[in-house]
Amino acid sequence: MARYIGKEMSRVDGFAKVTGRAKYAAEFKVPNLAYGFIVTSTIGKGTIRSIDTTEASRAPGVIGVLTHENYPKPAPPAAPELKPEENRNVRDKSFRALVSNQIFFNMQPIALVLAESFEQARYAARLVRATYNEEKPMTDLESSLDKARLANPSRPPRPRGNPTEAFAAAPVKVEAEYTIPIEHHNPMEPHGAIAFWEGDKLTVFDKSQGVYVVRQHLATSFHIPPENVQVISPFVGGAFGSALRPNYYPALTAMAARVIQRPVKVVYTRQQMFTGHGYRPHTWQKVSLAAERSGKLTALIHDSKNNSSSFEDYVENTTGMPRTLYACPNALTSAQFVHTDMSTPAPMRAPGAVSGMFALECAMDELAYALQIDPLELRLINFTDVDPDSGKPYSSKALRECYRLGAEKFGWSKRNPEPRSMRDGRLLVGWGMATGIWGAFQQPASARVALKSDGTAHVSSATADIGPGTYTVMTLIAAEYLGLNAEKVKFELGDTRFPRAPVQGGSFTTASVGSAIYEAAQNIRQKLMDLANKEASSPFKTAKIEDTELLDGKLVLKGSSQSVDIFALMRRNNLPELVDVHEARPSREREKYATGAHGAQFVEVKVDPATGVVQVTRAIEVTACGKIMNPKTSHSQEIGGVVWGIGMALQEATEVDHRYGRIMNPNLQHYHVPVSADIHEIETMFVEEDDKVVNPLGVKGMGELGMVGIPAAIANAVFHATGKRIRDLPITPDKLL
Ligand code: MOS
Repeated sequence: MARYIGKEMSRVDGFAKVTGRAKYAAEFKVPNLAYGFIVTSTIGKGTIRSIDTTEASRAPGVIGVLTHENYPKPAPPAAPELKPEENRNVRDKSFRALVSNQIFFNMQPIALVLAESFEQARYAARLVRATYNEEKPMTDLESSLDKARLANPSRPPRPRGNPTEAFAAAPVKVEAEYTIPIEHHNPMEPHGAIAFWEGDKLTVFDKSQGVYVVRQHLATSFHIPPENVQVISPFVGGAFGSALRPNYYPALTAMAARVIQRPVKVVYTRQQMFTGHGYRPHTWQKVSLAAERSGKLTALIHDSKNNSSSFEDYVENTTGMPRTLYACPNALTSAQFVHTDMSTPAPMRAPGAVSGMFALECAMDELAYALQIDPLELRLINFTDVDPDSGKPYSSKALRECYRLGAEKFGWSKRNPEPRSMRDGRLLVGWGMATGIWGAFQQPASARVALKSDGTAHVSSATADIGPGTYTVMTLIAAEYLGLNAEKVKFELGDTRFPRAPVQGGSFTTASVGSAIYEAAQNIRQKLMDLANKEASSPFKTAKIEDTELLDGKLVLKGSSQSVDIFALMRRNNLPELVDVHEARPSREREKYATGAHGAQFVEVKVDPATGVVQVTRAIEVTACGKIMNPKTSHSQEIGGVVWGIGMALQEATEVDHRYGRIMNPNLQHYHVPVSADIHEIETMFVEEDDKVVNPLGVKGMGELGMVGIPAAIANAVFHATGKRIRDLPITPDKLL
C-alpha cells in the first residue's frame, strides 16, 4: 500500500514561498555588493563605431563601465561545445556579451554600468552614448522562407513509404499553411545572477534550470576547471525553457565581479528579457494530408521553417512527434531554420510539439470536414498502437481511453458539426478537439540519499524546481521508499555541490531524478538487510531483497509481522548515517518499445460576432502520462498547460518592426498573456497507465504535454463557431471580423 505515491501532497516549499523565506537568485545577501545595469543597442545590425562612457563614469556612485573596448581578454571562446555528458540538448554556442563591436540583434547588450546602487547604475546607463555603422537587419522569416536550411544537411528527411505518390493519388486531401509568431516565456521572476570570486574560485547565484550547465559554461568562459565554480539556484520563479541555457548574463556578471574585485549583481529588466534568454521562434508550416473516403490517412507531408539568429542554427523539432501520432503508411516531414538578425530562440514549453501539433491537428480538423467525418472519429480511425516509423509497440498508450473519457465528460456526441449552428443568445458557440503528444523521456541523473540514525533522511540532487513541484515529488518518493514520514525527509536541489542531474526540461525530471532516488533507496534497503543479517536474530536470513520493504522506520519481511528497527540497527553498528550516491540511467528494456505520453482536449468557445472576441468557456483535458505521483501538483501542471494553450491560441505574440529588427512590445502591458478574467472552466483528468518499461516509477512527462493540443482545439472550435479557419496565431478579434 503506497503511503504517499498517488496521494495529494501540498508543496513542501509552499510555506517558504508564500512567506518570502524562499530565496531567489537575486535575493541572496552578499556583502559589498555592486549593481550592474545593462545598456542595449538601438540598432538591429552593424557595428559599434564609438562608445562614450565619460559622462556615465562621472555619475554618482558609478564604479566602472564595461564595454567591448575594455572587456578583458582572453574573451570567452566563440563557440565551444559542451562535452556530450554535460547535456545533449544544450550546446554552448551562445551569444556572449561585450566580446566584440558587432551587433547581431536589436537590444543587444553593449555596456554594463557598475555602481553602488541599482538606481545609480540604471541612471548612469542612460548616459552611455554609442554610434553605429548601421546595416539593414533581416528579421522576417516569412519573406525569407526560400533561405531555409536543414541544421544537419548530411541527414536529410527520410520518407516513410511514398508520400508524394500517395498524396497525388488520394481521393480526399487538404493542404494548408500555418504560422505562429515569436512568443516569449515571460516568467514572473526576471533572470539575474550574483557573482563573486575568492581567488580563482567563482560562486554564482543564478536563475537556472540546470546548475551543472551554467557551471560548465562559466568554466569554459574563464578557462578554469569546473570544480572551481559553484552555481546555486534553489528557487526559480518560472522559466519554461528560458533558463535551460546559460544565457549571456552569468558570464557577464562574473566578469564584472572579476574586473572590479567585488561581488556583482545583474538582473534583467522585463524589456531585456525579450532579447536575453531566447523565445519560441516564428514558425511557418505547411501540412498536406490525404485520405481514403473511409477516413484512413494515406499521406502526411509536413514542412516546418523557423527563424534562428544569424550565429546559431536553432531548429525546432516541430514535425518529429506529429509524424508518429497516426497510422499513416506514407509520410515525409522536415524541419528547417532561417538565419535572421534576432537573438537565438530557445525551447519554450512543449517546444516544437505544440507548434507542430497546432498545424497537424488543425489540418486533421480540416480533413474531417472534407470527409464529413466527425473529428474525433477520424482520429480513432487512424489510431495506432505502434510507432509508425519504427514499428515498435508503445510501452503504453492510453489515448483511446482519453478520447472516450473526454468526449463523454464534454458531451461531444451532442455536437452539431455544422459551423455557426450552435448559439448562446447572440454568441456563436463552437466545440473543438485535438490530440496532445509528448515524450516519456529519461536522462541519466544522480542523487544522494543519506538515512540518519536519528530517524531522518537527507536527499539531494542538482536538479531544479522551476515550479512543477520537484521539491515535493522528490520528498514524496524518498519518504515512500525509505519508509519514513515525509516530515522526516529533507530534499535539496539547485547546487553544484549536489550530485549531477540534467537540466529541468523536457518534462523528464521525475522520471530521471525520481528514478535515481528510488534506486538509491533500494540500495539503502539492501545495506540495511546486510547489516541485519550480521545479527543472529535476523528474520531475513533466507529472504530475498524483494521480500522486504521499509515501513515506519522498520525493515519489514513482507506479509509477516517480522521486522527490524532500522535506526536501532544503525546505532548498534555505530553508523550515524547510511549513504548511497546513485546514478539512474534509462533501461535497455526501453529500446524495445516506442514511448510517449498522450492526451485529448475538448474545448468550447463563445465568440461575440460583433467584436470578434473569443472566450474559452470550457476545457476538458484528459492526459495519459503514466503513474501520477502527486495528483495535487499534477493537476496544477495540466491546468497551467491549458491556460498557456489559451494564451498561445488567442493572445501571445512578440511583435517585431522589421524595418529596425526591433521588438515593439517587450513588456507585459503589450505582450498579452491570459489573466483570471480570460480563464473559465478547466477540468483536467488522468488516465493512469501502468508502465514499468519507461522507468521503475512508471512516470512520464506531463508539464509540456498539458498544453500541446490546446491551441489546435481552440482554433478548431473557433472554426466550428464562426466558419472561419484562422491558421495564423494568435486568433485575435481583427482576424475574425
Ligand atoms: Mo522545457 S521548454 O524543456 O524547459
